[in-house]
Amino acid sequence: MKYRETYAVIDLDCLSYNFNIIKKHSKKNVFCVCKADAYSHGDIAVANELYNNGANYICVSSIDEAMSLRNQGYHGPLLILGFVDTSCVEYVMHNNITLSVFSLEWLKEIDSSIDLSHLKVHLKIDTGMNRIGMKSLQEVKCVLEFLDERKVCIEGIYTHFHSVDQVSCDKQTRWFYAIVDACNYDFKWVHTSNSGGTLAYNDVRSNAVRVGIALYGIDVVDSQLGLKPVFSLFTKITFSKKIMEGETVSYDATYRAVKDMYIATLPIGYGDGFVRANTGRFVGIDGHAFEIVGAVCMDQMMIRTDKLYPVGTEVELIGEHIPLLKMAKELEMSPYEVLCLFNTRIMKRYKKKGIIIKDVHERLLK
Ligand SMILES: Cc1ncc(COP(=O)(O)O)c(C=O)c1O
Repeated sequence: MKYRETYAVIDLDCLSYNFNIIKKHSKKNVFCVCKADAYSHGDIAVANELYNNGANYICVSSIDEAMSLRNQGYHGPLLILGFVDTSCVEYVMHNNITLSVFSLEWLKEIDSSIDLSHLKVHLKIDTGMNRIGMKSLQEVKCVLEFLDERKVCIEGIYTHFHSVDQVSCDKQTRWFYAIVDACNYDFKWVHTSNSGGTLAYNDVRSNAVRVGIALYGIDVVDSQLGLKPVFSLFTKITFSKKIMEGETVSYDATYRAVKDMYIATLPIGYGDGFVRANTGRFVGIDGHAFEIVGAVCMDQMMIRTDKLYPVGTEVELIGEHIPLLKMAKELEMSPYEVLCLFNTRIMKRYKKKGIIIKDVHERLLK
């Protein structure tokens, strides 16, 4: 069976390479952020690869994401960074998932009859992001006391940088360590730095970094560490034709041929997360750039080519000649956003040791 040929190539060797670069550069343990389907790279393949490389934790945002990994057979350490409803705490504990505790009020909502002695938590301290987390030492101390009473394993403490500049990171780390020191508690894990913090700042007191986008080879701070992009995106021409001067292309006829020209149709559109703002950008065939013309449709889009290319010709949308960072800049979006837009309609083609090891078409899985 030949399904639609629009596929992301996920290079697991590049992922491992980036993991090792980050580990070497930071000289710390590495917690790997795999939320949002591992930034659209596929949660299970990425989590397993990173765990096999020595990741100390795989971090996700929610119970849904954590259970997605458990249900697919990931057995390693898992930390939920976001909110979990207190009614799920027992379930989380039984699945050996570590929780983030971000308020005393939340803790008090947990059913007092539940035995929490197998629960592992990290305390989330808010040092300026104002998302979730505890800001005051007083609240943190009450939480420690509460958790100790219920024999919870308080394994870690962390905060999250909102910016990458030195002044902001200094301010946040000062705030964070004032709380850590005052707790006078022997935390196994102390972690602050996301990718930006890991690559551009050095928090000497933490013993782990908590990186996401850098693992995927996107260097948001231009660190020159030689991270390798893991994700590339391709499709194949489904139709090629010549149109005449004056003809228009796609919805609302916004593109009009100024002369006779060749048009190729590609099976990808905003239904895949390839947004309409891509009109006017360029894609590649054999390293040559061709413009996306007319409105991007839900499932298809058209490019203007220099000749009639055969059906089945491969087209690069993100890759060696079209880096994700360049695309994000052209779309005036963050690279996080561009990646997260891609959805499971796009088949994932995993590569390892230079060869394709598996094609994953999630919407065809039971
Ligand atoms: C709490 C937390 N830690 C770490 C990360 C990883 O961030 P980055 O992808 O910038 O490394 C995120 C992602 O947003 C996060 O929310």
